[in-house]
Amino acid sequence: KDMLSDMIPFRMAGNLYFVGTYKASSHLIDTGEGLILIDTGYDTTADVIVDSMKILGFDIRDVKYIIHSHGHYDHTGGTAKLVELSGAKTFLHSADIKYVESLENSFVPDFDIHDGDVIRLGNTEILCKETPGHTEGTVSFFFDVEEKGKKYRAAMFGGAGVNQLRKNYLKERNLSYFQRGQFLESIKRLKEENVDIFIGNHSWQNQTREKYERSLTCEENPFIDDTEWVTFLTKCEEGMLKVIHEESRTEFINFAHRGASEYTPENTMLAFNVGIYMGANGIETDVQLTKDGIPVLFHDETLERVTGEAGCIQDYTYDELQAFLVRKNEYVDKILKLEDFLKCFGFRDLTFAIELKQYGTAQIVADLIRKYKLEQKIVITSFRWEELVAMRKYAPELKTGYLTKVADEAVLVKMKEAGVDEICPSSLIVTKENVEYWHSLGLNVRAYGIGTEEIMKRACEAGVDGMTVNFPDKLTEYIKGWNK
Ligand code: G3P
Ligand code: CA
Repeated sequence: KDMLSDMIPFRMAGNLYFVGTYKASSHLIDTGEGLILIDTGYDTTADVIVDSMKILGFDIRDVKYIIHSHGHYDHTGGTAKLVELSGAKTFLHSADIKYVESLENSFVPDFDIHDGDVIRLGNTEILCKETPGHTEGTVSFFFDVEEKGKKYRAAMFGGAGVNQLRKNYLKERNLSYFQRGQFLESIKRLKEENVDIFIGNHSWQNQTREKYERSLTCEENPFIDDTEWVTFLTKCEEGMLKVIHEESRTEFINFAHRGASEYTPENTMLAFNVGIYMGANGIETDVQLTKDGIPVLFHDETLERVTGEAGCIQDYTYDELQAFLVRKNEYVDKILKLEDFLKCFGFRDLTFAIELKQYGTAQIVADLIRKYKLEQKIVITSFRWEELVAMRKYAPELKTGYLTKVADEAVLVKMKEAGVDEICPSSLIVTKENVEYWHSLGLNVRAYGIGTEEIMKRACEAGVDGMTVNFPDKLTEYIKGWNK
């Protein structure tokens, strides 16, 4: 009874009914040859749907199809119970099956949904459109409803929430930042549709309760409004862009580039510690393999510039390299193993950008990251596209960033296809317009090649999400101003 007082079930328009709760909408279509239920709310509120249907004169046993906008538990939680009562067949996009598999009351969907599929029953045809973003398998629905002899197009955007697209949410679940881009792209496609009745999958999206109350005294049906669809989609779009924009400040990463390499021997313990001391909340480093296959942190192919020694890093075993010193100003330190670096710094509240300098390093690096369970703190970067792709294949749970001086459409398309999360543009191509565009594709933007304080400030103003600097102290000082 308490549950029912939450929302009164009612007829929205024509053969379309609301049978859900305030927190999670469920809609019923009476097709004349059986019922279709869209979304089933929570496990705990499945009974509300049954009772709501009863109040409206429907019988759960007449539900033939249950279709889901996406796989989250607040839209699929009641399905198992309702299938048991009705014997209905269920539809869910296959990309979202992982979500229902983890439900307490899980179920196996009977049908996958593909873009352009039409679900037919009685007098109703529901057109399904893949609109990924909120989840990988979010689907939006379109169908006609007849009221007082007039046909109206009804539609639901299957996943409108942006909280699930915040960086931390995505990081914690090893989901791709690209979902943000997919979300924005889905909205663009949906905006092209003409819709007269906008159906929310949460009641606050279309003010279900308020409109129902208005409908009691009003001649016109408040649910019929052909402006609402685009207005709502625009709000979703703005909400996503606002989150991305805010996060470029709240989640900004000041990466000490090879540590505080302006002052101390690059890629060494000393440089990393000084970087942290200077306020960096990220560390960037370079990985190469020694002659005996040990991943070490070293930038150049040859030893000359930083150690003064002859030969290449690959000419020596790790033990042999220990005889050499990396120098900067009056300081010296040793060449460091990646494993020791992860052990020493991995537990800290930092983001790590690990750059693969050589081909053939992806597996060994990923294995170490997995060994120390640092998947959520690391982004793997490289100028070497094939190595980045190899990493995507071997460890798809890791975030990846492509270091590039070119960001034309071909580059952006290949990044999207490979599922790379981050663009690491040279400062030469960092402009406000470019950053906004990359953000609109869902990419995280982390600049490199920040040679001077002036370039650093310009990149910050362009709205990047972070950058590598040899002088993290100056960046720390500069970004302090954002909070004033
Ligand atoms: O931040 C990326 C940057 O490290 C790439 O250039 O040559 O310094 O490794 P490089
Ligand atoms: Ca580097």
